[in-house]
Amino acid sequence: MPLQEVVEVNESVDLAPLDKVLDEYASERGAVIPVLQRAQEIYGYLPKEVLKHIAKRMNVPVSQVYGVATFYAQFSMMPKGRHTVEICDGTACHVRGAAQIIKVLEQELGIKAGETTPDRRVTLRVVFCLGSCALAPVAVLDGQIVGRLVPDKAARLVRELE
Ligand code: FES
Repeated sequence: MPLQEVVEVNESVDLAPLDKVLDEYASERGAVIPVLQRAQEIYGYLPKEVLKHIAKRMNVPVSQVYGVATFYAQFSMMPKGRHTVEICDGTACHVRGAAQIIKVLEQELGIKAGETTPDRRVTLRVVFCLGSCALAPVAVLDGQIVGRLVPDKAARLVRELE
């Protein structure tokens, strides 16, 4: 995803807490990953303004900060929803119909996997093997494993999220 496609969120970002973190790491060259981790703790995700500010303060190209942020799955450049739905598409889950569940949930929510609904109700993610293959296909709803999912049940569970 090119930098210009990073979601523009119409919110001003208070960079003061980030500046404190950057002060802590001022003498550490190459500390982009821990700074991004702290930034994500502060903002819940990594807004474009934050990435630019980190690049400026750490004196590294924005493309480098952006590259690190997109390389690691732990980082998100999208605002998170109040609920997170993770669908496993690892091998065991895939052969038991995970793709159909993902498709149904994308339709139900009107977003693609990896996105958050515009009202920030739900973030939908695809993950690979949650270590519960015996229960395939598996999802994690707000940290709770749900096994032996079928598309209808998945859609209903998501619909019930406030
Ligand atoms: S492949 Fe889905 S839990 Fe292992």
